[in-house]
Formats: sequence, structure tokens, C-alpha cells
Amino acid sequence: MTSITEKLKNEHHDCEQKFCIFESTVESGNWEQSQPCWHQFVDALQTHIRFEEEILFPAFEKVTQLSPLNGPTAVMRLEHQQFKQQIKIIQQMLKEHDKQGLQDVADELMASIQQHSFKEESILYPLCDRHLKLSELYCGEN
Ligand SMILES: [Fe+2]
Ligand SMILES: [Fe+2]
Repeated sequence: MTSITEKLKNEHHDCEQKFCIFESTVESGNWEQSQPCWHQFVDALQTHIRFEEEILFPAFEKVTQLSPLNGPTAVMRLEHQQFKQQIKIIQQMLKEHDKQGLQDVADELMASIQQHSFKEESILYPLCDRHLKLSELYCGEN
């Protein structure tokens, strides 16, 4: 049976791949392609974050009695907010075809996402696996 760590690690990997594809379209100045590639990345990341914030974190907070205000999930939520800010900046730069600016912010965003994913994969998800089952989380989704 798939663990929470495995499933969400795959999603991190998928987001990273989509981001790399986007970056290569920017690198080659292919603005027509960069728009849909950007949206594919943002959709995947938002779906992943929504699952964490709306389903996984609340279930984890409930079972561990850790506060959503200052426990480990609070840090993760805060970092998600930072990604959303960076995404807005990139969206604007994409409209303006600002290649250099975009590459700088994109590099920052990828570095932040990688650090965030590392913390989730090495600490938070294994803790979730100790207390929760993936199948139960998906059953509770409706
Ligand atoms: Fe996250
Ligand atoms: Fe995540």
C-alpha cells in the first residue's frame, strides 16, 4: 500500500519536472509555450498544496494535538504563502516577457520549493505516516 510519503514525494517530483519544462521554454525565449507550461506547473503545485492544507495538515493536527498556529504545519503553511507571492511575481514577469527577471525569481522559487519539500519528505510526511493512512485521507475528502 502506498504511503503518504511516497505519494506526496511523487507529486513533488512531478511539480519539479513541470517547473523544469517551463524554465526551458523561458531559456529558449519560447513565450508561446511558456504560458501553458507555467499553468501546468501552477495547477499541479496548487492541487498539491490544497491537499496538504485542507486534508493532510488538519488530520495530522487532529491526531497529534499539535497546534495549527505554531506547530510544524504552521511553518509549512507560511512557506506556501511565500510560494504564492513568488508565483504572482513570475506571472507578471511572464506577461512582460522579462526573461532575466523571470529567471532570477524562478531560481529563488525552485530553491525555496526544494528546501520545503525536503523538510516535508524527511520530517513531516514520515510523522504523518506514523499516525495516518493515505486511504483514510482520501475517503475523508468528500
Ligand atoms: Fe507543502
Ligand atoms: Fe508538499
